[in-house]
Amino acid sequence: MIEIKNITKTYKTGDVEFNALDNISFTINDGEFVAIMGPSGSGKSTLMHILGALDNPTSGTYLLDEKDVSTLSDDALADIRKDKIGFVFQAFNLLPRTTVLRNVMLPLVYAGVHGAERIARARTALLSAGLDENHFQHMSNQISGGQIQRVAIARALVNNPSLILADEPTGNLDSKTGEIVMGTFQKLNKELGRTIILITHEQEIAEHADRILFIKDGMLLEDRTIRKSTPRF
Ligand SMILES: Nc1ncnc2c1ncn2[C@@H]1O[C@H](COP(=O)(O)OP(=O)(O)O)[C@@H](O)[C@H]1O
Ligand SMILES: [Mg+2]
Repeated sequence: MIEIKNITKTYKTGDVEFNALDNISFTINDGEFVAIMGPSGSGKSTLMHILGALDNPTSGTYLLDEKDVSTLSDDALADIRKDKIGFVFQAFNLLPRTTVLRNVMLPLVYAGVHGAERIARARTALLSAGLDENHFQHMSNQISGGQIQRVAIARALVNNPSLILADEPTGNLDSKTGEIVMGTFQKLNKELGRTIILITHEQEIAEHADRILFIKDGMLLEDRTIRKSTPRF
């Protein structure tokens, strides 16, 4: 499903060029749950932006479902994101003073999905993300950190993406809440067959995945299998 081939991302600051990603290659199959680990500044977020079709690499190819997305225009990248990818970020980015349900419906408003279907899909996504129905009409600033992250996961699910990308999704959570959120990701992976790629700098969090890619200085240091992943059905 995902083939990263010899990807380099070069940032220029003044006259200085810096390779945030340095000729990195790997493959991720449908239905895998992969954690990406590495020290701060190792290129994790840069890699996530490329995987999420938010940015192009400087060189190398990125095949997503056999389509080369490494050289697409911004508009074409936006279409790929809308069709295939759900994002969960560390900063929750929910609209305050707006209900949980409405926050999850929002991507569908932009996608032009109509009223009743919007509500139905948002409700299904919230239930899949493990949020209790009692909270659907709460304002997003009136629920706990763990619940907020479930809403963020629901929002990432609502366009039915085959690929879910999460950048430090437990970074702002206490360890117990972090465990619960990771359980939600595992469930989405095992029961709904979603491919999940999750960035973390915490070993305990990473071990909820089936495989860990360790990166350092923009290079792949180690590719470790934790457990056999369930093939996509
Ligand atoms: N837009 C940018 N311009 C210049 N340098 C950047 C930019 N984004 C990231 N970097 C640099 O690239 C390296 C990798 O950054 P990043 O991918 O955010 O690492 P991580 O997420 O692993 O902490 C860092 O040294 C960072 O300073
Ligand atoms: Mg980062």
